[in-house]
Amino acid sequence: MITFEHLSHRFGDRPVLSDITCRLAEQRIGIIGANGSGKSTFVRMINGLATPTEGRVLVDDLDPARHGREVRRRVSFLFSDPDAQIIMPTVGEDIAFSLRRHKLTADQLDQRTAAILDTVGLSGYVEHPAHLLSSGQKQLLAVATVLVTEPDILIADEPTTLLDLRHTRAICELFATLTQQLVVVTHDLNVVADFERVLVIDEGRIVADGDPGECIDFYRRSMGVR
Ligand SMILES: Nc1ncnc2c1ncn2[C@@H]1O[C@H](COP(=O)(O)OP(=O)(O)O)[C@@H](O)[C@H]1O
Ligand SMILES: [Mg+2]
Repeated sequence: MITFEHLSHRFGDRPVLSDITCRLAEQRIGIIGANGSGKSTFVRMINGLATPTEGRVLVDDLDPARHGREVRRRVSFLFSDPDAQIIMPTVGEDIAFSLRRHKLTADQLDQRTAAILDTVGLSGYVEHPAHLLSSGQKQLLAVATVLVTEPDILIADEPTTLLDLRHTRAICELFATLTQQLVVVTHDLNVVADFERVLVIDEGRIVADGDPGECIDFYRRSMGVR
């Protein structure tokens, strides 16, 4: 459960989020809205990548501003650019890097690596140089590196922005199989159309919240697009 309590945020004098109060309990929640409306700042609050100027956010009963490490163990964050997330030379080493604090034996590590690569459709790529994967495959690897630590919540900020249709679909199909709570920021409205809930953010406020179809219609109308 993610709870925002009268949360506001400013960069200098500029308000970016204004008095947001909401509870995010549904399994799959989409966040949509215009460029610069505050979507990234909103989701970055959830794992302490940004801290509120006023109010607070709680993940279960933990405040990321005070309990950053515990929160980040439960909440993983996926960025649009997988190159920002891939660290090690090979696919297998990159997964192992995510698990470095898990004190696994070599066999356990191999098993966890094989299982997660199977889940994301990259079986057989363990030895493959990570930087030679296609953008879509890199994003699948980035998803694997965050999922392998078994977070309770996955936040994804425009995860399909750099992907072609086929890889966008692969990410969506993968998201549909996850048991984690998912919070996805996107400009691709198809990605969140079958989620349980969508929030529309405009100028730092939640201006529509609820049924995805209705919220997507609201957003299209507000942008003057049919
Ligand atoms: N580090 C920063 N310093 C100053 N202003 C920022 C910073 N990050 C974001 N902003 C501003 O905050 C507003 C909201 O940004 P952001 O949350 O990234 O919006 P979105 O993800 O909806 O495009 C924008 O006006 C942006 O310029
Ligand atoms: Mg953003």
